[in-house]
Amino acid sequence: MSSFSLGTLARRQFLRIAAATGTATIVARSAQAAMPATVEQGRKVGAPLRPYGQPSPYEKVVRVSTTSTPTQISSWDFTPLQHLHGIVTPNGLFYERNHAGIPNIDPRTHRLLVYGLVDGARAFTIDDLLRYPAVSVIRFLECSGNTLTEWKKPTAKTVQVSHGLVSCCEWTGVSVKTLLQDIGVDSKARWVVAEGADAGLMDRSIPLEKMMDDAILAYAQNGERLRPEQGYPLRLLLPGFEGNMSIKWLRGLKLTTEPTYSREETSKYTDLLANGKARAFTFVMDPKSVITSPSGGMVVENKGFYEIRGLAWSGRGKIRRVDVSTDGGAKWNEAALQEPVLEKCLTRFRFPWTWAGGSAVLQSRCVDETGYVQPTLQELVRVRGTDSVYHNNGIQSWAVASDGAITNVHA
Ligand code: CO
Repeated sequence: MSSFSLGTLARRQFLRIAAATGTATIVARSAQAAMPATVEQGRKVGAPLRPYGQPSPYEKVVRVSTTSTPTQISSWDFTPLQHLHGIVTPNGLFYERNHAGIPNIDPRTHRLLVYGLVDGARAFTIDDLLRYPAVSVIRFLECSGNTLTEWKKPTAKTVQVSHGLVSCCEWTGVSVKTLLQDIGVDSKARWVVAEGADAGLMDRSIPLEKMMDDAILAYAQNGERLRPEQGYPLRLLLPGFEGNMSIKWLRGLKLTTEPTYSREETSKYTDLLANGKARAFTFVMDPKSVITSPSGGMVVENKGFYEIRGLAWSGRGKIRRVDVSTDGGAKWNEAALQEPVLEKCLTRFRFPWTWAGGSAVLQSRCVDETGYVQPTLQELVRVRGTDSVYHNNGIQSWAVASDGAITNVHA
């Protein structure tokens, strides 16, 4: 964003604030205090090696679960977006959504059955799948209900609870196309029903075209085998599609001529409109962006420089542009996009902001490579009404009060 170093920036901050108030800055105090503690640490022997690393005990970054379900057996929790850096979500902080708890599956006995309109049904072990050529991609996964609480009025206090049903991993597995071409597909097949092995019997119908495009049978995330809550030992990954279709604990792929109209695509995961009709088979997650810092629940304590940071993503492809407004949408300014900018992947954006004190409203708006512009909430409500709970991709607004406290508002 600019050519000066943080040291220069800190000195400029110091000079400006010192001149204005006659007080030292936090930056200057911490720099003086750091030296003695560092010297003391150098006199003590540290902890031994550990077989599996954990975060520093000083870091208390965790998922939080929704309070809107009666138990945690069919429930969800949120990724702490406001505390993360870059675009990759650590495996232990990836959002969770379960319909009947997390099954405990032994990979030695698990099978993936591929049947229906194929040239002979086949049952694959995990070891069978590991022998196929592998692919790795970095892709986001988002629950179609992400931001569902924000349709009618601002509800969530933090970006974790308003937008934390999105995460992003490097996924590794077998291309579905590779597997289906190896088996042989009947020319009459048009759909694939993916079936989960959890007690919720989660299943969804997926167009064969998507399965032959970029679908993956994933067995690893961020370099290690899937976490149980992410579908261990095998899940489907449908890049850009709503999260519930990337069936976890995958045990079946049935090739058919028609969709099955399962419970999960009729009574659930359809989008009720104001006229009483519902949109069905709304697969693709439309472009969305959100400022993660500064954001709801935070306080900007000192006037001066802040880097506005956030995330943008689109199920349709790459993010082309993100604009940021600090005055409630009167003026929009182009943010810098952090490389890499990948398709169907979180994209990090940054925008330099100087808080002069007083109130402000922070917003971001993205455009993807298809030209789709993220709508305002009002535009979304005009088209969809307020009865829907899925696919809310409206612009998020954070209000900064004159005392620096930040809250969720509809601007
Ligand atoms: Co949908």
